[in-house]
Amino acid sequence: MKDKLDQLKSEASAAFAAAKDAAELEATEIKYLGRKGLMAALMQGVAGLPSNERPMMGKLANEVKIAVERALADRRAGLEAEKRGAIATSEWMDLTMPGTRPPKGHVHVVTDAIAAVTGIFEKIGFTRVRYPEVEWDWYAFEALNMPKDHPARDEWETFFMAAPEDPKLGKMVLTPHTSSGQIHELKKGKLPIRMINISKTYRRQSDVTHVPMFHQFEGLMIDKNISVTHLKGVLDHFAKEFFGHGRKTRLRPFHFRFTEPSFEIDISCDLCGGTGRIGEAKCRICKEGWLELGGAGMVHPNVLKACSVDSEKWSGFAFGWGVERTMMMREGVKIDDVRHFYRNDFRFLTQF
Ligand code: PHE
Repeated sequence: MKDKLDQLKSEASAAFAAAKDAAELEATEIKYLGRKGLMAALMQGVAGLPSNERPMMGKLANEVKIAVERALADRRAGLEAEKRGAIATSEWMDLTMPGTRPPKGHVHVVTDAIAAVTGIFEKIGFTRVRYPEVEWDWYAFEALNMPKDHPARDEWETFFMAAPEDPKLGKMVLTPHTSSGQIHELKKGKLPIRMINISKTYRRQSDVTHVPMFHQFEGLMIDKNISVTHLKGVLDHFAKEFFGHGRKTRLRPFHFRFTEPSFEIDISCDLCGGTGRIGEAKCRICKEGWLELGGAGMVHPNVLKACSVDSEKWSGFAFGWGVERTMMMREGVKIDDVRHFYRNDFRFLTQF
């Protein structure tokens, strides 16, 4: 019996020590220490011994059992430690390593252009203003020398609000151009004026060069003895600052109801250097050396009168055009569809 006990002790200890993982350890535990295991069988054998042998063998059997249980506990602790050691090598992290930076955004290209335009005009004394996206007919048309039913209104493909008409100011519209800002500014009655109004504008149109919602910026300068020369000087200044020092502007006679004389402003083309030709071929961007930028002119006396400004004493100029369009004319910016600005496509937006 003593031999059997010794043999069990060494065999079980070796088996526990050799268990490679928790499953093997459990199987070994059942084999040796389970209710029907080898240890239990030996204990039963001891119980069946003659009474003179029983105490000694019983004591020995208990010692063996304790030793075998310790072998199990040791291996269990060993496996735990191995597992923790493995985590330490597979899942360690270096807390001194630089972190992963979250992607950093930037302002939208149009917001950026608005800031640039504002900055250029502020430097020469123009104050940035902005007016609501919803406007009264009187500000958008009537005070700008476009009486009711005047055909010139058709050019501002206007959205009308489903709202009650005001007896004096007429219908409510989505601001179709920033020129209504001239009226707001003149009505304040604070002269002289140098304003730059940049706002959202709306027209019923959508194609490669038009979006229903776009931005315009409008300059208004009212003072004494203001002439077309001042207008030309301010526009040239803007063109050089925004587009680069090689660029020039040109005024082309045009017609607007709220300015007299009126002009369309062209800017010399960057691609062909204002010549309209690239080698033997016509420039594919401008075809004639100039690109159309927007409208301008000397404020019509009727506009001043509508705002109770003495047109004998005061005069001035106004100009206005689209921010998106201006952006598209910037050097190196080759955008073939103005609608890209508002598609929220990251591949487009992250290029700026
Ligand atoms: N408001 C005109 C437009 O939207 C542009 C313009 C502004 C023309 C100021 C003359 C003076 O087309």
